[in-house]
Amino acid sequence: MKVLVAGGAGYVGSVLTPLLCANGHDVAIADACWFGRHLPPEVPVIETELFALDERRLGGYDALVFIAGLSNDPMAEFDPALNFKQNAALPAYLAYCARLAGVRRFVYGSSCSIYGHTGNQLCFEDSPTSCTYPYGVSKHQGELGAMLLAGPEYSVIALRQGTVNGHSPRMRFDLIVNTMYRSAMTEGRITMSHPDIWRPIIDVRDTAAAFVLAVEAPEGMTGVFNVARDNFTVGQVAEAVRDELRRLDGRDVPIENLNRPDPRNYRVDCSRAREVLGFNPRHDLASTVRSLHEHRAEYGDFTDDNLYNIKVFRKMHSGRE
Ligand SMILES: NC(=O)c1ccc[n+]([C@@H]2O[C@H](COP(=O)([O-])OP(=O)(O)OC[C@H]3O[C@@H](n4cnc5c(N)ncnc54)[C@H](O)[C@@H]3O)[C@@H](O)[C@H]2O)c1
Repeated sequence: MKVLVAGGAGYVGSVLTPLLCANGHDVAIADACWFGRHLPPEVPVIETELFALDERRLGGYDALVFIAGLSNDPMAEFDPALNFKQNAALPAYLAYCARLAGVRRFVYGSSCSIYGHTGNQLCFEDSPTSCTYPYGVSKHQGELGAMLLAGPEYSVIALRQGTVNGHSPRMRFDLIVNTMYRSAMTEGRITMSHPDIWRPIIDVRDTAAAFVLAVEAPEGMTGVFNVARDNFTVGQVAEAVRDELRRLDGRDVPIENLNRPDPRNYRVDCSRAREVLGFNPRHDLASTVRSLHEHRAEYGDFTDDNLYNIKVFRKMHSGRE
C-alpha cells in the first residue's frame, strides 16, 4: 500500500516507518520535523506544516496515518489554544482532505489519556470518559472528528494508545518508563508521583505493530481500539524498572514516592484490539527497560534538549511565556 505518515518523524513514527517498509509498503512522511529526522534515508520526507496539506497533496495514497500534534500534557498546557488547533482541528481537517482525495483508510493515533480520572474500573472503548485537561479533551475531539467522516468507502481506525515507552531513534525521556530509567541512571533513584495511580503501558515496538495491523486491516473496517500491553500502577512500573536494572548491571536504586495528586488514573481493556485486529503485544516492562539499556550509549548524559518535547517546544515558541 502507499502510506503517508503525518507526524512520522516523531518518537512512534521513527519505529513505525521502518516496520511499514519491512512489510512491503511504499511509505512517505509528512512532518515539520520539530525533533529532527531519524528515519531510513530512502523514505521520502515532505517537510511541511500539516495544515498546509490539502486534498490535491493527498491524492494517490491508500492510507493516511496521523501521529502528529502536541503529544503530551506539558506541551498542551504550554499553549492550550495551539493544542486545540493541532490535536482537535488538524486530524479532522486531514481526515476530511484524505476522504475528498479518495484515500481509503485513515488511522488516527489516539490516546488512552482521554479516559481521565476514572477510578479503578476497567475502561472499554465505549465507556464514558472524564478528562478535563487540554491534551485529553483535544485528543478525544480529534478522534471524534475523524470517526464522523467514516463511511462505506472510507475506513477510519483510531488506536487509543497507552503510554508508549522504550527506545526509538527519535528518543523521548518524558514518558513514564523512560523517565524512571533516566532518573535511575543519572540521579541514582526513581521518583514516582503516586504508587497507586493506574496507567496502561505499551512498548513502542508493540505500538508500531498495532499501527501496521490497522493499516493492513480488512478493507472497510472502522472502529476505535484500546492498545496497551497491560495496566500497571505507577508503583509497579517503578519496581519493574528497578528490578530490571538490578538484573542488568547490579545497580540498586531506591524508589521515592512524591505523593502528588494525578488527574489521570485509568485502566483499559484491550480485548477488542486482540480479537478484531489480532493485536498481540510482545514486550513486557523488563523488555522495554532492556531496549533502553542496550541503547544507553546514544543518550549521552541525557541532557540534550531534543530528548524532552517540552524543551524543544518552548524554544520553538520562545517569547510567548
Ligand atoms: N508517546 C506516547 O506515549 C503517546 C501515547 C498516546 C498517544 N500518543 C499520540 O501518538 C502520536 C505520536 O506520538 P509521538 O510520541 O510519536 O509524538 P512526537 O511528539 O514524538 O512526534 C510528533 C511528530 O509530529 C510532528 N508534528 C506535530 N504537529 C505537526 C504539524 N502541525 N505539522 C507538521 N508536523 C507536525 C512533529 O514534528 C513530530 O515529528 C501523537 O499524536 C500522540 O498524541 C502518543
